[in-house]
Amino acid sequence: MSDTINVLLIGGGGREHALALKMRESKRLGELWTTHPENAGLARIAKAVDVPVSIREIYRLQQFCERNNIGLVVIGPEDPLAEGYADKLAAPGRLVFGPGAEAARLEADKAWAKQLMKASSIPTADARVFTDARVAKDYLASREHPPALEGKAQKLAGKAAAELPPVIKAAGLAKGKGVIVPSTFKEANEAIDRIMVAREFGDAGSRVIIEERLEGPEVSVLAIVDGHNILVLPPCQDHKRLLDGDKGPNTGGMGAYCPAPVIDDATLAIVERDVLVATVDALRREGIEYKGVLYAGIMLTPAGPKVLEFNCRFGDPECQPLMARLKSDVIDLLCAACTGTLDTVDVQWDERTACCVVMAARGYPDAPKKGAVIEGLEEAARHENARVTIAGATRTKDGDTVVSGGRVLGVTGLGATISEARQAAYGACDAIKFEGAQFRRDIGSKPAR
Ligand code: AMP
Ligand code: GLY
Repeated sequence: MSDTINVLLIGGGGREHALALKMRESKRLGELWTTHPENAGLARIAKAVDVPVSIREIYRLQQFCERNNIGLVVIGPEDPLAEGYADKLAAPGRLVFGPGAEAARLEADKAWAKQLMKASSIPTADARVFTDARVAKDYLASREHPPALEGKAQKLAGKAAAELPPVIKAAGLAKGKGVIVPSTFKEANEAIDRIMVAREFGDAGSRVIIEERLEGPEVSVLAIVDGHNILVLPPCQDHKRLLDGDKGPNTGGMGAYCPAPVIDDATLAIVERDVLVATVDALRREGIEYKGVLYAGIMLTPAGPKVLEFNCRFGDPECQPLMARLKSDVIDLLCAACTGTLDTVDVQWDERTACCVVMAARGYPDAPKKGAVIEGLEEAARHENARVTIAGATRTKDGDTVVSGGRVLGVTGLGATISEARQAAYGACDAIKFEGAQFRRDIGSKPAR
């Protein structure tokens, strides 16, 4: 009997293309199916699912899995996880990689995640949750103009430094864009209106979180969790701002490298114990089992590492450098997470550093322009030590690959040092041309703030 396994991969971004490329290296892969054949990269290496993909008609996907003998479903993005695809698609003889809807609340409901962290003393920024814009603004005003201290308290406090405004977050899922880090209280006030009144992020903005502003370098610590065992992956650093020098608006991520020396082993061990293990335990106490990727966005503050956010999936672009470095069989790894046997797999990593540069469309993130023809993909693919992943924002038209949205490509280089990895990535980037291409020139050049 063959021990190959047919895989259904849900999701159509660069993260899923990186996972698909890695799965294709596995001897265990039977057929690979994609829900997003419009992604030119996925279309080349996976068969297209031929039924509508929606949670309302999930029976169609269930039937598809039965018909095609799918043994493993891998769910890439947060939306289907939050909607409960993992719960619905699990069946005898079929594994699903990714947490169920209850566990995915860790990402989909930031207010709930905060409460869970507070209740278990998991280090995170202090925060308050509001359901009413007016009350949120009154709270903000009290932060801007705190009541005057009197007598001894005033003496002790001295002259307080002017406080930077807190961070304003939509509580729900907002495609990585629902966080506003304002420079002034006026901007913070406007952010509350954008989220709660104008509903820029839809229902994600029915509640707003006003969060203590933290300072320090950021690091993405991802772990694979099998219900009880936790495998911490090498740390990555993402660059969330659009422009060089960490300027411009927040994006889904403009580039990432791995490993990220910004976190030392001792601090990583603290994050494992006080954040990752503590969170999986806290969920278990709520009766929720966590399986899949647990991603902690961490800020390394002078008071120690603190959680900025949880994601319930691989990061995009973090997945690209991770997959570039993973030497072990990814299907073995994902299956072990599903079957509670992570402790039996020996995971090997390439010693080299991987650096992924994201190329985005003109106008990203606010209003990406569609239609530019992408040239040079084949030449880039010939570059040694570089690989290109296609993000969702591409379509094939008359044989050309064209831009159809925000993040277009991820170009990942491998090198003995971060500077060699950067060279490999940027060499391949420079071979690729499309009108209005935006990409940062400083990915991995220094730890992003
Ligand atoms: P998030 O999606 O919650 O990780 O937030 C996106 C980005 O906003 C983070 O990568 C940080 O750069 C910034 N950010 C979020 N929360 C805070 C905070 N409490 N203090 C300072 N910056 C923050
Ligand atoms: N790169 C950040 C994220 O995937 O949320």
